[in-house]
Amino acid sequence: MKNSPWWRDAVVYEIYVRSFADASGDGVGDLEGIRARLPYLAELGVDAVWLTPFQPSPMADGGYDVADYRGVDPLFGTLDDFDALVAEAHAHGLRLIVDVVPNHSSSEHPWFKAALASPPGSPERDRYMFRDGDRPPNNWTSTFSGPAWSRVPDGQWYLHLFAPEQPDFNWRNPAVHEEFLDVLRFWLDRGVDGFRIDVAMGLYKDADLSDVPPSEEGFQSRSPIWSQPEVHEVYRAWRKVLDSYPGDRAAVGEVWTDSPEDLALYVRPDELHQSFNFAWLEAPWSATSFRKIIDDTLAAVTAPTWVLSNHDVVRHVTRYGEGSLNPGAGNARANAALLAMLALPGSAYLYQGEELGLPEVRELPPEARQDPIFKRSKGELPGRDGCRVPLPWSGTEAPFGFSPDGGRPWLPQPPEWAALTAERQAGDPESTLAFYRRALALRRSLRDSLPDAIAWLDAPADTLAFSRGELVCAINCGDRPVPLPPHDGVLISSGPVDETTLAPDTAVWLRSA
Ligand code: NOJ
Repeated sequence: MKNSPWWRDAVVYEIYVRSFADASGDGVGDLEGIRARLPYLAELGVDAVWLTPFQPSPMADGGYDVADYRGVDPLFGTLDDFDALVAEAHAHGLRLIVDVVPNHSSSEHPWFKAALASPPGSPERDRYMFRDGDRPPNNWTSTFSGPAWSRVPDGQWYLHLFAPEQPDFNWRNPAVHEEFLDVLRFWLDRGVDGFRIDVAMGLYKDADLSDVPPSEEGFQSRSPIWSQPEVHEVYRAWRKVLDSYPGDRAAVGEVWTDSPEDLALYVRPDELHQSFNFAWLEAPWSATSFRKIIDDTLAAVTAPTWVLSNHDVVRHVTRYGEGSLNPGAGNARANAALLAMLALPGSAYLYQGEELGLPEVRELPPEARQDPIFKRSKGELPGRDGCRVPLPWSGTEAPFGFSPDGGRPWLPQPPEWAALTAERQAGDPESTLAFYRRALALRRSLRDSLPDAIAWLDAPADTLAFSRGELVCAINCGDRPVPLPPHDGVLISSGPVDETTLAPDTAVWLRSA
């Protein structure tokens, strides 16, 4: 047995709570729904689950606008339900990590309400980013489009890097630090195994709030808005809290950067255990891009992570399919990418529904969409609802077991998802679900014997092949079959394979020769 902490090579399954399983029948997923599906997750073969926010919230951003950091929104259940969920997850051998949202609160948080009720210059206002002026204090725009500053009736402006209902905290105020240390302890005391930290690179802003240089379009990881050096002190303090609890409690940061070196700054022995590595999720279907990402990541980060989809991006079945004339390419490539990701050292994050091969739902009616990005851009940007459609569990028509019969899921499910339910796929050895189960079981059986390093093998153009101890992984991103590397047997493949050739859009695990 390897003697490394669980998170180093865990497979973590992201549960977007609103869309996983609805036990109460109100059309929104909940904690009880998750608890009832724990056997499914254990059988899938993941090591841990990450729950997106379930704390009390007006849901201006699906719960990433937290009004009370120490509770459960009635929409999702109660604290007792949460405690039962932790206990039962642990009984199934599953770790449980929860989201913490430290960059901003809800505008309904008691601190923000107190700030609005207090005069400019008051200690209550100092817990957020208030500024005077006839005009917005700088040129920053919200990540959700539109200005990043809103005005209150007495003329002051407050900063919100996301929706106006999500005012940014002032991390230069010690009260904010104390509050979050206490919030971490609150959930650690309830038994959580760790945290996913929302917008982890955002807490501190440039002290002068300088303008973003006009030439800089799009996201820049080094900017007056993101990744100020002071943020690392926060994670050093958080690490001390995590380390003071037994049982390898861990934190993974949502850190968007444009270089692996910037990402690595967050992953240090006295800071975060891991950061999401979004490079692959942003990359096209290309062996050259994948190889560069793998090389850069392994060179820069001691605890690598891999992820193909999450609740903020277009599902990868759809992303990969869009460049191809072959209608099956999206699913074939998604399964191939899974095998490549699971063969690499480090941990892998899966997003609910990818094990069912769910595509992005593009055709949601405008009136059903709830993402603030859609609303703030006046419909110009579709937003993220298309990857958040409630899961199809069983049956032949909506709500497909997501809600009890008669329930109406908060986003409509496409009728063709009848063919993709977990129930239907569980009985079909050729299904995506069956493939995920096989791949995860195999990874688990090999995990302890595989070294942390990979070695590249010679491979034809548009393909990759690497070995990791006794395992060889090859992936064909090109459009013609290629010879398989020398091997001593096929362990698993993402598509039809024979002993000598690897088809396009396919990956394979081989026993090394
Ligand atoms: C990142 C979360 O993943 C996303 O869903 C949310 O909208 C923003 N942070 C703001 O909290």
